[in-house]
Amino acid sequence: MLDFVDITKDNVHLHCRFDKDFENELDKFQNKIYPDNSDFFTVLISNGLLRWSYLFYGGKLIGAIWLEKEHSCLPVATLGIFIADKNYRCKGIGERAIKEYIARNKKDLKLKEVNLQVRKENIRAIKCYEKCGFAAEKEYELSNGQRVIDMSKSV
Ligand SMILES: CC(C)(COP(=O)(O)OP(=O)(O)OC[C@H]1O[C@@H](n2cnc3c(N)ncnc32)[C@H](O)[C@@H]1OP(=O)(O)O)[C@@H](O)C(=O)NCCC(=O)NCCS
Repeated sequence: MLDFVDITKDNVHLHCRFDKDFENELDKFQNKIYPDNSDFFTVLISNGLLRWSYLFYGGKLIGAIWLEKEHSCLPVATLGIFIADKNYRCKGIGERAIKEYIARNKKDLKLKEVNLQVRKENIRAIKCYEKCGFAAEKEYELSNGQRVIDMSKSV
């Protein structure tokens, strides 16, 4: 039922359908729905710095997930995920997607650790990340007053 489809130059245009979801609702939960420097994503992928995939559930495109590294020599990546369609949240899909995506990419990306940032008020996401084995590392406030928690997990 859950499928990952790699984002390529042939299908990346599909991602722009999520821009409206971001304006309408997703921006309440996260600051971005694209990996950093996503204009150059094919280069990042070929340099072992990025894995970026669509999430399909029962054949329907419901969101995206990515793992991005700042340095190819460090065994650490940052996770990003969103399920744009509200009807598919809170059904365990996020947990499955994260566990499977890390498992299938950790060798290629040479990972020993995955980290992420989450807003403190985003209880659903925090619960999901905890189910995946992430633990809070530190909590801080951004200049806009938003409280953020850094979480990480050894893989
Ligand atoms: C975050 C996200 C990827 C998680 O995926 P998901 O499929 O909804 O998560 P799961 O169903 O695996 O887990 C969510 C858990 O939170 C729990 N939960 C939800 N709201 C809760 C609340 N208010 N209090 C306590 N627990 C809550 C659910 O019961 C579930 O736990 P359970 O499986 O033990 O019942 C998805 O909800 C999403 O994309 N949300 C919008 C964007 C977003 O928040 N992105 C992440 C930014 S860091």
